Amino acid sequence: MNLLFIGDVVGSPGRDMVKEYLPRLKEKYRPHITIINGENAAGGKGITEKIYRQFLEQGAQAVTLGNHSWDNRDIFEFINDAKYLARPANLPKDTPGQGMIFLKLNHLEAAIINLQGRTFMNPIDDPFRKADELIEAARTRTPFIFVDFHAEVTSEKQALGWYLDGRVSAVVGTHTHVQTADHRILPGGTAYLTDVGMTGPYDGILGVEKEAVLKRFLTSLPSRFEVAEGGRNQLSAVSIELDQKTGLAKKIEPILINDDHPFYS
Ligand SMILES: [Fe+2]
Ligand SMILES: [Fe+2]
Repeated sequence: MNLLFIGDVVGSPGRDMVKEYLPRLKEKYRPHITIINGENAAGGKGITEKIYRQFLEQGAQAVTLGNHSWDNRDIFEFINDAKYLARPANLPKDTPGQGMIFLKLNHLEAAIINLQGRTFMNPIDDPFRKADELIEAARTRTPFIFVDFHAEVTSEKQALGWYLDGRVSAVVGTHTHVQTADHRILPGGTAYLTDVGMTGPYDGILGVEKEAVLKRFLTSLPSRFEVAEGGRNQLSAVSIELDQKTGLAKKIEPILINDDHPFYS
């Protein structure tokens, strides 16, 4: 079972990269499941139903979110009917949407879980205990369990990786928008990567126009953050190969496409 995960898609530059490269990535990595983190897909803030559907039409089977889930009000119109959309599972009980979704693939099933960290982020329920609860339920149905851990600090991400090692197929991080170079298969068989990185502007700061970010650092005055459009773009992803019987990882390969890291088919 092969899995392809595309990191935080930022605005139209990110969506353009998905459109351009997803077919080529599919040809090269032959994923059975493609997942896209879409928390920044609508102008950098949240996602709309149109974009969610576009990702599915372009060949994704699931879309995950993060702390920007609610930034575009359109989400409230469709999240309860969006079967292939996962928002952080450790939000309060009555939050709309779902934190774990199941995908059917021929005779197999896979569980996709989205969790959000607590360190240097808005207060939220314990992602570790929430993961225990969800994994216990998922394992009665499938050994293929994928976790997108949307978190700020590397220690919290590594901690969840080790905590879930051997119990899930993969733990990959999102949110920081910079791909880390620590991909590995943990001793228990769980594929791990601290952050997949982002898909969108290559010459901005985490996808945002650099002038606005610089202004905030240099002056501490408020400045409006917009997606850095019109420049060069990049795509960040990870390909993971799973054992058909155990659901554990056999291979993990990060993918980075930009002018400094060209794509080879
Ligand atoms: Fe993001
Ligand atoms: Fe985020």
